[in-house]
Order: sequence, then C-alpha cells, then structure tokens
Amino acid sequence: MRRILFVLPGQEELGASLQSLGSFEQGVLELRHFPDGESYVRVDSEVRGAQVLILCQLHHPDDKILPLLLLVGTLRDLGAHSIGLVAPYLAYMRQDKRFHAGEGISARYFARLLSQQFDWLLTVDPHLHRIHALSEVYSMPALALTAVEPIAQWLRSQVQRPLIIGPDGESEQWARKVATAAGCPCEVLTKERFGDREVKVSLPHVTEYLDRTPVLVDDIISTGRTMQQAAAHLRASGMSAPVCIGVHGIFAPGAREEMEAAGLRVVTSNSISDPSNRIDLAPLLMLGLHQLLK
Ligand code: R5P
Repeated sequence: MRRILFVLPGQEELGASLQSLGSFEQGVLELRHFPDGESYVRVDSEVRGAQVLILCQLHHPDDKILPLLLLVGTLRDLGAHSIGLVAPYLAYMRQDKRFHAGEGISARYFARLLSQQFDWLLTVDPHLHRIHALSEVYSMPALALTAVEPIAQWLRSQVQRPLIIGPDGESEQWARKVATAAGCPCEVLTKERFGDREVKVSLPHVTEYLDRTPVLVDDIISTGRTMQQAAAHLRASGMSAPVCIGVHGIFAPGAREEMEAAGLRVVTSNSISDPSNRIDLAPLLMLGLHQLLK
C-alpha cells in the first residue's frame, strides 16, 4: 500500500530526516489563512487508498490544531485508507488533574479530540505523570517511544565522564534510564514549585562526583527555571556548569537565551525545531512506524 508523509510547517528538518530513512511519498498540500483568519487547506496529492502519516509539531498547539483537524477531514473525504499522527512532542499532557477547583483536565479532552480524528498516534516521551499510560486517555492506538537511547548515544560521543542528574522527582524516570543506557551514575534532586516561574531545588549530595561533568536531564524545558535552579545548586556544591538536556525544548520566550547567558549548554531533541537541537529522533520514530504500519 502507498504511504504518504505530510510534513506540517515547523518540522521540515525532522521530516527530511524521516524521508531519508523511509520510503514514503512526500505529501503535497497548501495551508494558509484567508484574510478573515480562517484556515485554508488543499491537498495536492492523490491519497485515495493510501496510508497517510502527518508529522506535526504540537508545540503551541492551539494555533495548529484547527488546520490539522481540517486537513484530516479533507484527507478522509479524499479517500485516505488510514491517517496516523506523528507528534514527537505531545501537548497538553501536563494538565493531567484538576489542580484547582473549576479547572478542566485538558490532557483528557485533548486526547479525546485527537482520538476521534486519527487512526493512530506516535509520540516520544509524553509527560506521563499522574496519567501512567497513553491508553488511559487515548482511545486510538497510541505508541509512546522514549528518547533514552538517542540521548545516551549523544552523551557517549559528546560528554566525558558524565554524571546524570534529574532536576526533580518527575524527571527520575528519564534520568535513571539515560544513566543506565550511558553507563554512568545518576542523582535525582527534589523540587518545589511556587508558581509558574518560581522553583526551589534541594541541595544534592554530589561531592563524590566533583570530577564528573554534570548533565541535567528532563523531559521538558519550558521557562528553564527548573534547570537553572538545579544548575545553581550544582555550582554552589563546587561542580562545573552542567549540560542541560531536555527531550522537548518548548522554551518560553527568551528561556534558552537566558540559560545560555548563564553559561549552560542547552541540548534538545528535534521533537520541536530549535537551534539547541542536537539529538535526531528520526531513527527512533522509524522503529515506531515499523510497529504501527505493519
Ligand atoms: C515538569 O512537570 C516537567 O518535567 C519539567 O520539569 C518542567 O516542565 C520544566 O519546566 P520549567 O522549564 O518551566 O522549569
């Protein structure tokens, strides 16, 4: 069966990397806005009977989701056999409970919306915290890969004697696995958050690792406060400036620049296109696609 990959704006680099590894036809479409702000979608490829894959960067999702849904509707009308969503960064996973009275559990509603439209979902390191598996909220087949091995590979080639440090309890699931895969030790700190931008990280017990390169590993870097606080404590303990690895660099405005100005080396995967991208997820995504497109 023909397989057609549509790459939505923002993921051209990862899309090209995937194209170079797979035998997909390249989907051609036009996406733009009418003068009144509504979205215009036109598919210029013959999709009838084809397995369609849409690679979409779901960072800042609100502006992207409507054109995406209009595209899916168009592809269905044009007779696509199946439509899968490749979203290396899965948005809306952090609002996974009602933190305050009256709030919505957006992770569930977003999952319901996507599950109604797509036949399957492929993603990388979704923020699974209070939701333990995507199947708890996604009713379509949803495969979550982990960037642990690509990160470990990058570390093995780029960092001398690393010490992996998880900046908070939630990061432990990634930090420990990366350390095991890279064959190096791991510490996990504890974090208290006092607001969107106020974070306090506990002092680590790292004096025995002073000869190692500290590497902070987390799933997401947003404001960069978690990484910056952890880095400040490491420095106060006599360690050098850490390498900061985030699977997903969702970066609030100016966040990466602020981290770099503070002397931190910031490294992310290309789940979200950014100058800090060093870790290519395409080979990992191909493994997932082999499973889903059997
Ligand atoms: C927490 O839920 C995540 O794992 C990250 O630790 C968090 O999103 C990082 O946010 P920020 O960069 O704003 O401190």
